[in-house]
Amino acid sequence: MPIVRFVREGRDVKCLSGENLREVALREGMELYGFKGIIGNCGGSGQCITCLVSIEGGKGGSLSPMTNLEKQKLKNRPKNWRLACQAIVKSSLIVLTKPQSPPSNANSLIKEALSNDLPR
Ligand code: FES
Repeated sequence: MPIVRFVREGRDVKCLSGENLREVALREGMELYGFKGIIGNCGGSGQCITCLVSIEGGKGGSLSPMTNLEKQKLKNRPKNWRLACQAIVKSSLIVLTKPQSPPSNANSLIKEALSNDLPR
């Protein structure tokens, strides 16, 4: 069973392989959305770009490949950013929600998250 390690929240969450990352984050009460996303996200259709996450660790292929829609929407964003609503969890990974406004201690949180083994 994959584990999604949410860096900002400091929590490991189990999910099923094949679950949508946005749905996992919302189900578990993670801070997926900033203000704009809270008041008006697209509900997971890949249109609003408010469900940004950065992938900070995990084996290659931890998520489904980027969709064409995602590639278009994230054209000028860092390569490790994804739209949570378009990403399907395949195996364990480390995720930072709202990478566009990282916490001031993001680097140390990510380092700590990477230092602990992540089950597949
Ligand atoms: S929820 Fe709107 S793009 Fe993901």
